[in-house]
Amino acid sequence: MTRVSAEAAHPKRQVFSRDALAGRVALITGGSSGIGLGIADVFADLGANLVLTGRRPDKLEEAAERLAPSGARILTIASDVRDYAATQGVIERTVAEFGRLDVLVNNAAGNFNCPFEEMTPNGWRAVVDIDLNGTFNFCHTAFKALKASPYGGRIINISLAQVSSGWPGAAHAASAKAGVTALTRSLAVEWGPHGIRVNNVLPGPIEGTEGLRRLYEARGEGEKELNRMALGHFGETDDIGLSCAFLASPAGDFITGCDMTVDGGRWLKRSWT
Ligand code: HXC
Repeated sequence: MTRVSAEAAHPKRQVFSRDALAGRVALITGGSSGIGLGIADVFADLGANLVLTGRRPDKLEEAAERLAPSGARILTIASDVRDYAATQGVIERTVAEFGRLDVLVNNAAGNFNCPFEEMTPNGWRAVVDIDLNGTFNFCHTAFKALKASPYGGRIINISLAQVSSGWPGAAHAASAKAGVTALTRSLAVEWGPHGIRVNNVLPGPIEGTEGLRRLYEARGEGEKELNRMALGHFGETDDIGLSCAFLASPAGDFITGCDMTVDGGRWLKRSWT
């Protein structure tokens, strides 16, 4: 893929210079599909080198092939964010291969629709372990490397606007992401003196993602959710990727502890009916 065709396919990316993230090493959890892959695609196009993690090696391989035309150096590591020791290994390998880590995007998430009274303790635990404890694992193990980043380390946590409205049928995910949001704010203060900026990005429903499919479309709720969007349409992965790029770039130097809501105004319509 040439630059010209990349620009034609992704017109919004033209607001950034092509080297906005040049020299950065960015690690994206859950980077092989959906929003994570969308962030990776934008970052690669803006000059970053990437480490992508996910549970399935085949999907990671596919993602790396898809991103190859960008010319980015891409390391894929199959790993489950719930495993602290494995996470330590991911960070060690990142530093061994690239010499450092500048941007950490905690994107890996689990979710399914289930009435609270029917949710098993294990179902609750699975989602909290992926979303909240997985974010702990990566923030905790990445600290030293992020502190050493010459650009000022960045953590971008993918959270949810539903932490304030509640989310009937997904109380596990809303609760876990509320924890992520609080962790973000706590670390923004604790690690500010180390130059590490820590922010939340709060996506709304994004076209073509597993979240939209399983939470709404597969349940025949796609149209209803669409009617809850202030802008009247779902987002694209580029909408999230470009917001993350802004925070990861020098444009985000003075931003820490913020909630960047990128949801087409979905949160304003708090209705669930
Ligand atoms: C009820 C369910 C269930 C369902 C799983 N469980 N799916 N309960 N309804 N649909 C229960 C299982 O019965 C089990 O409990 C427990 O959850 C763990 O399930 P496993 O399949 O063994 O776990 P695991 O393989 O670790 O998978 C984790 C997972 C899975 C979260 C359950 O769905 C997953 O891997 N998801 C990753 C992809 C994903 O969810 N993407 C969407 C993210 S969307 P018992 O008691 O039976 O052992 C998002 C934001 C969306 O985050 C925003 C939309 C606008």
